[in-house]
Amino acid sequence: MPALAHLRGSGIWCGTDVPLYQHTTFRIGGPARMFIMPATPEELQEVLRTLDEPPYILGSGANVLVRDEGVGVVISLKLMNHLSVDGERVEVGAGYSFPKLVSYTVENGLAGLETLVGIPASVGGAIAMNAGGRFGEIFDAIEAVDVLDGEPVRVPRSDIPFSYRNGGLNGKIVLGGVFRLKHADPESLRRRMREVADLKHATQPLRMPSAGCVFKNPRPLSAGKLIEDCGLKGRRVGGAMVSPVHGNFIVNTGGATAAEVLKLIDIVRDEVFRAFRVELELEIKIW
Ligand code: EPU
Repeated sequence: MPALAHLRGSGIWCGTDVPLYQHTTFRIGGPARMFIMPATPEELQEVLRTLDEPPYILGSGANVLVRDEGVGVVISLKLMNHLSVDGERVEVGAGYSFPKLVSYTVENGLAGLETLVGIPASVGGAIAMNAGGRFGEIFDAIEAVDVLDGEPVRVPRSDIPFSYRNGGLNGKIVLGGVFRLKHADPESLRRRMREVADLKHATQPLRMPSAGCVFKNPRPLSAGKLIEDCGLKGRRVGGAMVSPVHGNFIVNTGGATAAEVLKLIDIVRDEVFRAFRVELELEIKIW
């Protein structure tokens, strides 16, 4: 990554022409003309005041496909990663790694996040899209969410219209969250976490670069099953391939471009529509 300097006249970290493939789990994407890393909500507000174009907000880069030509301004929330624990309440910044939060709570005997193991997100990204899996979703354990709404505000869970893979925050930048957990025996939490992790490893291509599930499930149907039933597992465009393990993952087999992934997405959508008259909706974000 090119050296970072301070943003004009401030103490805020900023880089130019930063290759985004280094910041996404897909390992794909052109450069960000400006890549800014505020460390506090106040710095974030200061950055937003100086910009004359809308920024892209980056967490762990786990659910995005960045186009090959790159984007303008990216704000990474990685440095906004505070964590504090008060009994069964955990307050955590948007930039904190969600997998680390899951392990931390398990090791400290706090139940509520152990089945959300293996979600490669930042806390902010996971909240923004209400990430989850077979055993629950992040809002199950949320007490409140901190967002930037002009000013930083704390919104209680009861005021948030979250739903399946949608944090209901209307595009507001997530600054962090407050989780309400329950004291429990760390050994039993560890065991449960391992069970879920083993199940995921058996059914998802977690060792290949990807952005997780590409499409939302057209509930009650499963996108992965529809894709498999079209015989699309293993279909390739260049370095992009529909995972032979799970039909709803596209994996980067090495050197895939965003254009190749987009072409493969179109093929999958077309074939699923032709076979089942179901329009698959993207879960991943395209920048
Ligand atoms: N299935 C197939 N073929 C496939 C994939 C799945 O037949 O290629 C079948 C499975 O056998 C199962 C059903 O489809 O009967 C559902 O599959 P699975 O349990 O793997 O879950 P999913 O609905 O495909 C969801 C989330 C995942 C999460 C898993 C497990 C969505 C879009 N996906 O997948 O989340 O990890 O449950 O908890 O909601 C993500 O959001 O990025 C993601 C990976």
